[in-house]
Amino acid sequence: CGIVGAHTRGGSVVASLIQGLKTLEYRGYDSAGVGVVHGGQIEVRKRAGRLAELEGALASDPLPGAPIGIGHTRWATHGEPTDQNAHPHVDPDGRLALVHNGVIENYLELRRELMAEGAVFLSETDTEVLAHLIGRQLAQGDTPLAALQASLARVEGYYAIALLVNGAEPQLLCARHGPPLCVGMSADGAWLGSDVLALLPHTREIQYLEDGDVAELAVDGIKIVDGRGRAVERPVRTIEWNAESAEKGGYEHYMLKEIHEQPDVLARTLEGRLRPDTGDVDLGGEGWEDSDLANVERVQVVACGTALHAGYIARYMIEGLAGVPVDIDFASEFRYRDPRLVKNTMALAISQSGETADTLAALRLARDLGARPTSICNVVGSTVMRESSATLLTEAGPEIGVASTKAFVAQVVAAYLLALRMGRANGRISREQGREMIEELKRLRARMETVLAPEAVEHIRELADRHRNVKGFFFLGRGINFPIALEGALKLKEISYMHAEGYPAGEMKHGPIALIEPDLTTVVVNSIGGVSEKSRSNIEQVKARGGRVIAVGSDRQSHEIAEEAVVVPESSEWLSPVLNVIPLQLLAYHIADLRGCDIDKPRNLAKSVTVE
Ligand code: G6P
Repeated sequence: CGIVGAHTRGGSVVASLIQGLKTLEYRGYDSAGVGVVHGGQIEVRKRAGRLAELEGALASDPLPGAPIGIGHTRWATHGEPTDQNAHPHVDPDGRLALVHNGVIENYLELRRELMAEGAVFLSETDTEVLAHLIGRQLAQGDTPLAALQASLARVEGYYAIALLVNGAEPQLLCARHGPPLCVGMSADGAWLGSDVLALLPHTREIQYLEDGDVAELAVDGIKIVDGRGRAVERPVRTIEWNAESAEKGGYEHYMLKEIHEQPDVLARTLEGRLRPDTGDVDLGGEGWEDSDLANVERVQVVACGTALHAGYIARYMIEGLAGVPVDIDFASEFRYRDPRLVKNTMALAISQSGETADTLAALRLARDLGARPTSICNVVGSTVMRESSATLLTEAGPEIGVASTKAFVAQVVAAYLLALRMGRANGRISREQGREMIEELKRLRARMETVLAPEAVEHIRELADRHRNVKGFFFLGRGINFPIALEGALKLKEISYMHAEGYPAGEMKHGPIALIEPDLTTVVVNSIGGVSEKSRSNIEQVKARGGRVIAVGSDRQSHEIAEEAVVVPESSEWLSPVLNVIPLQLLAYHIADLRGCDIDKPRNLAKSVTVE
């Protein structure tokens, strides 16, 4: 979900709140709402559906201009996306309105207690109990800050909250325990948001709240109080991202723009890091020195979704290049089993947002089990980054398309840099090998551009057109390109809603081969390398059973055997995933586009999942 709030010196904040919600809509888009205080009244407009529905409602029934307000875009957890369940929620006496991300775990118990006292609930959400709790405290004469603190003390779960309090001098507060929340000042007043993107039009100087913090936002300053009630200052971070990088720049969709940005993302992620003289890389920040890396005995990767696929590739790289064993797990599984870590384990969380609840919890668990927490992350100041003793920052810039593309490529490149640094630190990679690895990196950009050339893209659109109505897709790959098969299938599922499965090519014969028929398209990712011959046999096996195959990669012989092909330039096998994923991103994009899907906001998904 996305949260915004503003307390300004004058004028109306409604347009700014809506503008802020637009930048956050990718975080959840099943309902939206805004609330303001005007003339001693809380006024709220909220609607199920996209933000456009809310804009429509505001056009026919405008909110009065007010200098203070809050807004929300929702990704449902408790209660269907209806007008009633949309945020903001208000208390029955009109004392307050609030918006919330996260989950109140003991809400049923609290709800029962409040109902016994006569409270009437208008929605099915867990959030509404908070509105009642805070309202009750305010009725007893608490200040807004005290009312919020007392109510939060009753709550189990996790939340980011923005609270608008009615009164002679309306007030804006926020609180964080779990999902992210940041605040910042501009000449006009104080702003809050669940994501820096919402604040960027107003300020680049951002403070992230920490768990347990509560903040009061006044026009002349922001006061932060920590979980123990002490006034605190949180570090001010300057965000370098510019507002245009979060715009479409002439492309029809963010996803397409982000796919085409990938060569630049590569260049930015490498910038200033390569040390060809020593055959090494400088990963910036602290915690990546030889002394930190030389004794790592095992790496435990935790991640979700696309970042997990980057993690699988990291495993091949770190084991194969740096000679260090790697375990990898879905963050949501790791945190609920009873994992055993060997000593000198380095936990590596991979996350674009740095806020994914499961990834964060898994990293914390690994840390509590004695591992050193580290991360590959795209957002400066995010929770994962702040809780890591070392972070390798990817330089993908803001990624708006819900289906991740450029962040993935940046994560894979970062994993390669990390493997190189580890291998140099522990002596498995010689200076000469390090130099060669760096040379390969330098050659990658031009190769990526070939894959993105207009004729290459057009070829993929034609393929997409021929295959857009098949029954389903299989994506097969081996070795370091096995995770690319997983990623190709995930992209297609996410944005075109077609059924797709990603499988290790060698495993296909143990079951899924039963599905092969002419109406199922099999994409085999195969680049020149140690396993290309094996993957060729898999193409033959699919063909022999009447399946249609598209071969993607640099292995020319595969192109000859397969019915159709996407030629990808040759590179070192280690870096081939970076090139091979691009045609698969484009294939998913064009199939979804030809099928008329909502590419940047696929149904049911959210960009950043800050709930379990
Ligand atoms: C969500 C997104 C995915 C993303 C995953 C992990 O499910 O829809 O695209 O890969 O979260 O996100 P992260 O920010 O941790 O990389």
